[in-house]
Amino acid sequence: MTHTLYSPFDMHIHFRQNEMLRAIAPLSGYSFSGGVIMPNCIPPIDSAELLADYTEQVNNALGALDFTPFMTLFFRNYSEKELAEIKDSIIGIKLYPAGATTNSDQGVKEISKAEHTLAMMEEMGIRLLVHGETHGFVMDREKEFLSIYDYLAKKFPRLHIVMEHITTKDAVEFLDKYDNVTATVTLQHLLITLDDVIGGLMNPHLFCKPIAKRYEDRDSLLDAALNAHPKLCFGSDSAPHPIDKKESCGCAAGVFTAPIALQVLTQLFEKHNSLPNLQKFVSDNAVNIYNLTPSPKKVELCKKPFLVPEKYHTVVPMYAGQTLEWSIESVQ
Ligand code: NCD
Ligand code: ZN
Repeated sequence: MTHTLYSPFDMHIHFRQNEMLRAIAPLSGYSFSGGVIMPNCIPPIDSAELLADYTEQVNNALGALDFTPFMTLFFRNYSEKELAEIKDSIIGIKLYPAGATTNSDQGVKEISKAEHTLAMMEEMGIRLLVHGETHGFVMDREKEFLSIYDYLAKKFPRLHIVMEHITTKDAVEFLDKYDNVTATVTLQHLLITLDDVIGGLMNPHLFCKPIAKRYEDRDSLLDAALNAHPKLCFGSDSAPHPIDKKESCGCAAGVFTAPIALQVLTQLFEKHNSLPNLQKFVSDNAVNIYNLTPSPKKVELCKKPFLVPEKYHTVVPMYAGQTLEWSIESVQ
C-alpha cells in the first residue's frame, strides 16, 4: 500500500544555527517542500542584517534540496522603515511573550506596548505569528491567552494572526470566531496528553511548550486535523535540543519530529480512515492560507516498517527506537 503527498509544508520549524542547523535542516529539506523557520535564535533574528545572515546560513545548510525556507522575524517594536525593508523577505513576524519558551527572554512584556508596530504590520500586510501563552498556571496558559487573541483580532481586523501550535479544545473552537485568525498544530499534540509526558516515568523528549494537555484537548485537535479544518495547518514545531540538554535537570522544551512527521501523520490518518484529508492538512490549507506556490515535490510513502533512529546528530527524535508502520519510499 502506498500514499502520495504533493508539496508538503511544515508551517512551524526550528532550524537553529551553526552545526545543529547544518545537521537538522536537510532532514526537513528532504521530505518537505518548504516551511516556516522560527527566529528564536541566539541572538533573536530581529534586524534586516541578522535576517539576511540567517537566511544565507539556512540556504547554505539546505544546499541543493528543493525546500523553500519561509523566514520570520522576532517581534520587537520596529520602525516603519525597518518593516518596509524586511517585508518581502519574511512570511511573518513571530511574537513571543517574554520568557514563555526557549530563547524568548527578549519577547514582549506588555501587549499594549506592541500596538503601534502591530498597526503598521496590519497596514503593510505583514502577518503576525504568535506563541499564545500567558504566565499563568501551565495548564491554563493557552486558554488565558485567548482573551489576548480576541482583543488583537478585533482591534486589527485586517492583520492575519496565526495562533501557533495550539493545544486546547478552546483554541480549536476559537478558530471559527474571527476571519483573520488561523492556526498551526504540531504532530505531538495530535497524539499525546500530559499523561505521556509526566503521567508515568517522566519523558523529557515529549516535554515542550505549550505542554501537552488533556484527553479532550488532544481529541479535539485530532478531530480538526483529520477533518482538515480549513483554518488549520500542519506546523511540526520540531525543536531539536542536544540530548544532554533534554536528559538533564532543567530539561529544555521541544520535541524533535521533523524526520518522522510525514510517516507518523500517514499512520495516524490511515488509522482514523482519513487519509484523503492528509493532503489538505499538510499542504493545500497552507497554500490557501499563506498564498504559497506548491513545488513539484512528490513524496511517496509506503506501508513498510520504519525503525526510527535512536538519534539524528545529537538529537533524540520522538519515537526513537520504535517501529512506525509507514516509511518514505521515494521523493521526486
Ligand atoms: C521551541 C524551541 O525549542 O525553540 N520549544 C518548544 O517547546 N516548542 C520554542 C517554541 O516554539 O515554543
Ligand atoms: Zn516553536
